[in-house]
Amino acid sequence: MKLIILGPPGSGKGTVAERLEKEFHLKHISAGELLREEVRKDTLIGRDIKPVMEKGGLVSNQLVSAVVKLEVQNKKQYILDGFPRALEQAKGIGELKINKVLYLDVPLNVVVERLAGRRVCKKGLHNYHINYLPPKKAGKCDWDGTPLLRRKDDAPAAIRERFRVYQHETRPVIEYYRKKGLLLTVDATPDPETVYGKVKKTLRLK
Ligand code: AP5
Repeated sequence: MKLIILGPPGSGKGTVAERLEKEFHLKHISAGELLREEVRKDTLIGRDIKPVMEKGGLVSNQLVSAVVKLEVQNKKQYILDGFPRALEQAKGIGELKINKVLYLDVPLNVVVERLAGRRVCKKGLHNYHINYLPPKKAGKCDWDGTPLLRRKDDAPAAIRERFRVYQHETRPVIEYYRKKGLLLTVDATPDPETVYGKVKKTLRLK
């Protein structure tokens, strides 16, 4: 399966994708994570995109499309998390032949609380919530024991900008896939376990 997961910032795209990867061995490709890795490694690309990402803006379509296309090369099954999120990006990946597009539908007031309580491990690979998905040991990643941190773009001003960008750029992508008949919508407001159960049912995964 080639699956895209779309939804507003904090809707749970990464959380769902992480569980699908673990249970069904579908490679989880997060556009945001690929870009953050460039920033962590302090590459030329990373230096260029850091300010845009920290403010909650979108990285250029050309750059993010190139990074993701490189990552999916020669892979038959994967989950694209957070890509495409602009119409130009969606129109540029026709050749990938995506099978399903999962839309995590959550009201904005719910996602603000999720982002405010989100913590990520130092390596950026695993994410938690101080109330809804706490780590076993406070402040430490269950998987690698690294300290849990708050993402820079989870600051209030950056969250506001991410929502603005989502409404203007990403909503049309959701409509684009709806018209193509690929969109599957899941109400992602309940707790993580319930949402994951609904996702598996909707994707007909057992
Ligand atoms: P990205 O990392 O993709 O950020 P995002 O889309 O804003 O999504 P988030 O990672 O914030 O949230 P999520 O939906 O994955 O939720 P999560 O599972 O973490 O992108 C970051 C930046 O990179 C962008 O702003 C942009 O600059 C750039 N970028 C990325 N893709 C790009 C593209 N295609 N084009 C251009 N630029 C791009 O969950 C959030 C919190 O809620 C966690 O704490 C989690 O534990 C908790 N939680 C999850 N599910 C539930 C639940 N059901 N109930 C309660 N809590 C829950």
